[in-house]
Amino acid sequence: MIPLMDLLLILAWGTLPALAAGALGLGVLRLLAGRSFGAMLAVVAVVTVLATVGGVVAIAVAMFISPHDRTVVLIVLACAAVVGLAVAVWLGREATTAGRALLGAVREVPRLGTYRAPEETLPAELAAVSEELTKVHAMLAEARTRERALESSRRELVAWVSHDLRTPLAGIRAMTEALQDGVVSDAETVARYHRQIGRDADRLAGLVDDLFELARIQAGALRLTLRQVGLGDLVAGAVAGVEALAAAKGVRLRAAAATGPPVRADAEEIGRALHNLVVNAIRHTPGDGVVEVAAYADGRGARLSVADSCGGIPEADLPRVFEVAFRGEASRTPAPDRGAGLGLAIARGIVEAHHGHIGVTNAGPGCRFDIHLPVAAPGP
Ligand SMILES: Nc1ncnc2c1ncn2[C@@H]1O[C@H](COP(=O)(O)OP(=O)(O)O)[C@@H](O)[C@H]1O
Ligand SMILES: [Mg+2]
Repeated sequence: MIPLMDLLLILAWGTLPALAAGALGLGVLRLLAGRSFGAMLAVVAVVTVLATVGGVVAIAVAMFISPHDRTVVLIVLACAAVVGLAVAVWLGREATTAGRALLGAVREVPRLGTYRAPEETLPAELAAVSEELTKVHAMLAEARTRERALESSRRELVAWVSHDLRTPLAGIRAMTEALQDGVVSDAETVARYHRQIGRDADRLAGLVDDLFELARIQAGALRLTLRQVGLGDLVAGAVAGVEALAAAKGVRLRAAAATGPPVRADAEEIGRALHNLVVNAIRHTPGDGVVEVAAYADGRGARLSVADSCGGIPEADLPRVFEVAFRGEASRTPAPDRGAGLGLAIARGIVEAHHGHIGVTNAGPGCRFDIHLPVAAPGP
């Protein structure tokens, strides 16, 4: 048993030099802030050695250990210090090498175009940084690909739309010139030209309107005025606007009785989406075919569907019909009816602004477009 006084003395003589060495070490570490991890490790090792040696020497002096014993202890300490320092230096080197490897991998990014994690085994913290870099890089690459696809589809859209704008404009110009120059004068042809000019002007107005709507959707600037809307009203509205178009083609239009509670929606915008679906359905259905518009409530909300007799959309096109400017195969879409391929993109934008979902499947004699609107309406 060590007497209490001795114990206190040992604690005092052991702690004081250790505290002094620790304070010195902290000061030096402060000065080294931002320097290499290896240098800091060396400082830590030196502090440990100084604290130990200081403590042993102080106690040796205070407790009158014989010079012989003191020398023995100091030699043992010196050996331990040399080995400890060597290990610290080695560890510092390893850490520095790992850091450099990571830095090298990051610096290679511009040359390789991608981040490749270093092959060396990295300490956990650096490995985590490297893993995050891999993830962030993948995210950035994905964003870049998406942006490029968007940019190219935008360019295509501009090209197509300018073509679509130019065609009716050229027609209008040719017909007005013919009328002005008196090239056509018989009453029937003049009336026909006037009708055609009116139709071309309507087509241009419709296209400009669609472009405007699409721009608002893409900019996230679609303002919805949400009200309680009856499903029956939505169906009736969609059918009423296209009766003449269906009759002209001999397509039978059926509005299935709508059942279910009202939904919270922007009646005008959802009406527009439904209208686009119904017009497509009539266009792609041969004379004597049937187009059916239905609405009903299901467990999670309301479902609006438009089924036609188009003969089905090719499987490969199904996932693409909602893309901006997608128009399928030219041969399948009757030429004078050809739209700009914006109708379904607009319908999807409107439905998604309602936090709903729109999809298409081939069913029966044609295809069916389904709009699902959730019960929980989006916030204002
Ligand atoms: N009811 C339908 N039946 C068959 N094909 C359709 C139908 N609706 C859309 N499609 C296909 O999807 C394409 C995109 O439709 P949409 O976006 O409305 O553009 P647009 O009507 O101007 O061609 C159409 O060109 C057509 O190929
Ligand atoms: Mg369309």
